[in-house]
Amino acid sequence: MPSTIAETESSPPSQPTAEEQPSRPAITLVVANQKGGVGKTTTTINLAAALGAYEKRVLIVDCDPQGNASRGFGLMARTPHLYHVMAGEAAVVDAILPTSFAGVSVLPADRELVGIEVEFVGIEGWEKRLDKALGPVRDSFDYILLDCPPSLGHLTVSALVASEGVVVPLQSEYFALEGISELVATVRRVQARMNPDLEIAGVLLTMYDDRTNLSRDVAAEARRHFADKVFDTVVPRNIRLAEAPSHGMPILQYDIKSRGSLAYLAVARELLARYADKARRTSA
Ligand SMILES: Nc1ncnc2c1ncn2[C@@H]1O[C@H](COP(=O)(O)OP(=O)(O)OP(=O)(O)O)[C@@H](O)[C@H]1O
Ligand SMILES: [Mg+2]
Repeated sequence: MPSTIAETESSPPSQPTAEEQPSRPAITLVVANQKGGVGKTTTTINLAAALGAYEKRVLIVDCDPQGNASRGFGLMARTPHLYHVMAGEAAVVDAILPTSFAGVSVLPADRELVGIEVEFVGIEGWEKRLDKALGPVRDSFDYILLDCPPSLGHLTVSALVASEGVVVPLQSEYFALEGISELVATVRRVQARMNPDLEIAGVLLTMYDDRTNLSRDVAAEARRHFADKVFDTVVPRNIRLAEAPSHGMPILQYDIKSRGSLAYLAVARELLARYADKARRTSA
């Protein structure tokens, strides 16, 4: 894998040396935006694959009853999956499946997961269930990425409680920032009440078309709003990214030289650099 990547990029990833980075449990990031179809799942799958290509051990937790992140790796739901883990009926280790992509595993979901939205109503301590369930595997991965459904219900809040950073995909379209204040308010609430470590890890412009003023306007507005939280890399609108899931492959496997593939590799490098800086600051 690394040799193929070396052929497709100009600079190696900026990664800390073993000395700089103290060993730590997985960096857990949630990919969230309650708006539908903005690129959450595409980002989860392809960022995970790109991190895997940089030799990180990555777990995707599919927190969406649509199960798209699972299917994007060609995985069919089988028992147990995330529903059983969140319902306390199965251990997380029994639900994790390997994928055909090196370094990437998936904790899959299927439609049954929607039951959590109802079953968690009025249950004491529901917010912490997913966080606690992931405990036994946090040392087995470098990154855990949680893909969220397009809502701010129990599943998304559970994912926010279990994470230290939120990656927010923003579709470079009209009304991209509409509803973002609601997401930011939810992040702040979770931060204040349950998870003081939670922060916005990055805002990613997706389906970007640099020929349009609209994409440029959305990017400018996002940068005004979120400043350097916005990734320098933008993910272009790229048909290969839309095709890859139907082949059960991340873009790196489906078409490594596509613009979509190069973009997600670049996002992964930015993320690795951000967290390397963070580890250095924490250990200083
Ligand atoms: N950069 C891109 N270029 C072209 N198509 C894309 C790109 N990113 C995502 N898509 C396509 O747009 C659609 C929505 O993307 P995706 O499923 O990742 O969004 P989502 O936010 O996870 O949606 P949902 O809210 O339903 O979970 C999919 O068909 C996907 O293949
Ligand atoms: Mg999705």
